[in-house]
Amino acid sequence: MIPNTGRGTLGRLERMPNVDLENYQDFCEGVRKYVYGPLNAPIMTEVEKAVGEAQAAGGRDLSDIEDLHAIFDPIPIMKTRNRVMRSVQEMTWRSLTDEYYGEGMKYAGELDAYDTRGPGTVEYNLDWEPPAYTRHPIHIQPGGYTEADLGGYVYYHGTNTFFEGMNTQDEAHTAIVQANEIPKDGKVERVLDIGCSIGQGAIALKERFADAEVHAIDVGAPMVRYAHKRAVDLGQEVHFAQRLAEDTKYPDNHFDVVNAFILFHEVPLEAQADILREIFRVLRPGGIFNIFDFPHNMKDQRLPFMSYFIDVDSKDNCEPFSVDFTLCDFQQNLRDAGFNVWTGDDQIMIVKTVYAEKPA
Ligand SMILES: C[S@@+](CC[C@H](N)C(=O)[O-])C[C@H]1O[C@@H](n2cnc3c(N)ncnc32)[C@H](O)[C@@H]1O
Repeated sequence: MIPNTGRGTLGRLERMPNVDLENYQDFCEGVRKYVYGPLNAPIMTEVEKAVGEAQAAGGRDLSDIEDLHAIFDPIPIMKTRNRVMRSVQEMTWRSLTDEYYGEGMKYAGELDAYDTRGPGTVEYNLDWEPPAYTRHPIHIQPGGYTEADLGGYVYYHGTNTFFEGMNTQDEAHTAIVQANEIPKDGKVERVLDIGCSIGQGAIALKERFADAEVHAIDVGAPMVRYAHKRAVDLGQEVHFAQRLAEDTKYPDNHFDVVNAFILFHEVPLEAQADILREIFRVLRPGGIFNIFDFPHNMKDQRLPFMSYFIDVDSKDNCEPFSVDFTLCDFQQNLRDAGFNVWTGDDQIMIVKTVYAEKPA
């Protein structure tokens, strides 16, 4: 059970330390809901109108991102939408960071106390310097995944706002894990989650495969430390470690199942190739790699507004590698790494699952 800190819990999410912060996050969540809800139709009307006018006028290339900015940026409702989305993201992180670092000693002490508690374990090295590409403030979260010692607290509440409150019971992670494929022979004794952040997917894996040994790695020490605290609170035995997905340190043919949730759009293509090689190595023959991520191979299929929104998000929300990911032929890259590949029907918003099997 999650400990009651005095303010109770929202599902599995420990409630925020005070009602002011909670109200502030509710406001941020409400703004996001408004933009993706009622504001979506008028925005799309303007998008279609602008595309129609651009096509009639000629001279613009709808597959060229600069031209798309020239077409969409001046639309008043688009300007408002983009500014609001950035501001609300800044407000989310700023308020959470102020609060948790305002009580920094308390939360740092809490993490220290959990490090040695079980069930499960956590391993990290504060002297190790993660690669530069992992140290961007992704989603404009101050300190990103690696640089802010209380980043896990901030990330959990911030992503709950981001997911519009649909994150308190690990809803998305559980649904995805339940839909995941397993090896044809049914043997699932060792499982790995890569890029686990605060461990929601890893917990869902442990809940589905209760008898399996579940490991979860992330480049960020703040992430695995908070993930471990959360797993301890939930009474789940998961082994977290600060490691790179491209250098996991596990033996060859070790895992029956490996999962990666929304990791690949956050790594550069060179790192993607290294990660695919590494996962092929640690999966046993017949093992399954479940990947849930942004759409990819969109070079010729992408609608103008999707290209535009992904580009705006990449720039405004610090997602430096997402555009390259959506354009790459990810499934071919998996095949080149040796996997058999297929896709599922399950899809949450624009993201969907790709399954890869190491040939038996
Ligand atoms: C968007 S988060 C996804 C978190 C988690 N899988 C989930 O579904 O909630 C991406 C995570 O991948 C981690 N990450 C990025 N590059 C990595 C790498 N090369 N090796 C291990 N973790 C990495 C980040 O630190 C971050 O926690």
